[in-house]
Amino acid sequence: MAADRVLIFDTTLRDGEQSPGASMNTAEKLEIARQLVRLGVDVIEAGFPVSSPGDFESVQRIGLEVGDAAVVCALSRAVPKDIEVAAAALSTAKRPRIHTGIGVSESHLADKLRISRDTAVERAVAAVRLARTFVDDVEFYAEDAGRADPLFLHQMIEAAIAAGATTVNIPDTTGYTYPEEFGALIADLRSSVDGIDDVVVAVHCHNDLGMATANALAGVKAGARQVECTINGIGERAGNTSLEEVVMALRQRRTYFGVDTGIVTREITRTSRLVSTITGIAVQPNKAIVGSNAFAHSSGIHQDGVLKERSTYEIIDPADVGLAGSAIVLTARSGRHALSHRLAELGYEWVEAEFDGVYEDFLDLADRKKEVFDEDLEALMADRERRGEEVYHLEQVHVSCGEPGIPTATVELLAPDGQHLVDAAHGTGPVDAVYMAISRIVPEPAELIEFAVKAVTRGIDAQGEVTIRVRSEDGRIFTGRGAHTDIIVASAKAYVNALNRLIVSVKPSVAEEM
Ligand code: KIV
Ligand code: ZN
Repeated sequence: MAADRVLIFDTTLRDGEQSPGASMNTAEKLEIARQLVRLGVDVIEAGFPVSSPGDFESVQRIGLEVGDAAVVCALSRAVPKDIEVAAAALSTAKRPRIHTGIGVSESHLADKLRISRDTAVERAVAAVRLARTFVDDVEFYAEDAGRADPLFLHQMIEAAIAAGATTVNIPDTTGYTYPEEFGALIADLRSSVDGIDDVVVAVHCHNDLGMATANALAGVKAGARQVECTINGIGERAGNTSLEEVVMALRQRRTYFGVDTGIVTREITRTSRLVSTITGIAVQPNKAIVGSNAFAHSSGIHQDGVLKERSTYEIIDPADVGLAGSAIVLTARSGRHALSHRLAELGYEWVEAEFDGVYEDFLDLADRKKEVFDEDLEALMADRERRGEEVYHLEQVHVSCGEPGIPTATVELLAPDGQHLVDAAHGTGPVDAVYMAISRIVPEPAELIEFAVKAVTRGIDAQGEVTIRVRSEDGRIFTGRGAHTDIIVASAKAYVNALNRLIVSVKPSVAEEM
């Protein structure tokens, strides 16, 4: 007998983007959206259009790009203007969904919204009705449902269904509940709310107590048929339910849960790496499914067991999440065909006229590095993507340092008006000196708050990937990344990248009210 289908609603581009420093531009969101389609998600929450012109544009462009491959969803509060703007942004989508809702816990009603329960229900009903005048597919969220009075939650959900909601989302917004409680909450709604059998029940869990995945799964066990999640579990504060954990749990324990998803699990690793590269949020090594140690066996007893029979210590075949090693390793002798073949296998697309540039970059890298692995190609393509959005471009960087000596850097940047700007500075170390010199050319106030460097692949000639975060004068956080076999060059690229993002950023207008 066919198992029930659980819909996977990905909110990496909306809730995930709410992680500090994870803001993405439209081109980056489009790249992730394309990968989410390959991954087979059912719904892509593409943004919160009223919050900024950038979010509006991203939702529009993603709607165009995705076609009928997935539902494209836009978030709105239960505010007419939000809903109208969401509908306008979704005009390009073949399968549009408006996601609207309101807070339902006492804390949200009394402290944030300062309205009565009756007013909240009236606003919710009006919002769902308005949304239904634009689209047939309307999802209603009852924010902070995990801490709400269950009787009021019932009343609210019943009213939203009667007003025309087709999916009802029960968020544990603050990550407060435990699996038993959250499962019981869903079961209770399913057994007592009028009309609940005619709609999809969704769960949207946050990870403040580390329960997001467990709570979402408890919701599924109790009958929820949509899970809202993000790649690598990124999101507000401690994050959201992680897509890869839920999907692999449902798959590995299919007899226990009795449900399927439409996810192409072989695409999980690539999606995880792409999101980490674009957002600059590293995946912790011991993270389930996608951490670099998730399939690493260190103790002698474990290694012996796995060599005798993989399943002794491994419940998931790494190949199922796309971790099978590539048979092809590219070198400076690899031709254009080998490169284009491997890039296409990795899911990249390009217009023919661009390929000469891709090949040149590849040869430049292959000259510095004996073997070019998939991760190197991913870093190379990400670097090209960043170049497309540049305001200032790093032309050259030269440092002198040592002991004794004063670390000194000379930097040349190409400005947007075509001028070549050169300056020099000294600092406490070579990276500090480079950042001082760049700051003399681009005097945008930005405080460096995080600096991390990691090797893209193994080996002494590996590229270093530098990820930094800077804080602007108004407290916003921007991530910058750069990859190069010389980590000083990678550091300079990362700083210029962060400053470029800061310069072109548009301040969000209402996000702080969410
Ligand atoms: O966590 C939450 O409650 C949300 C809603 C806007 C769905 O993200
Ligand atoms: Zn959320």
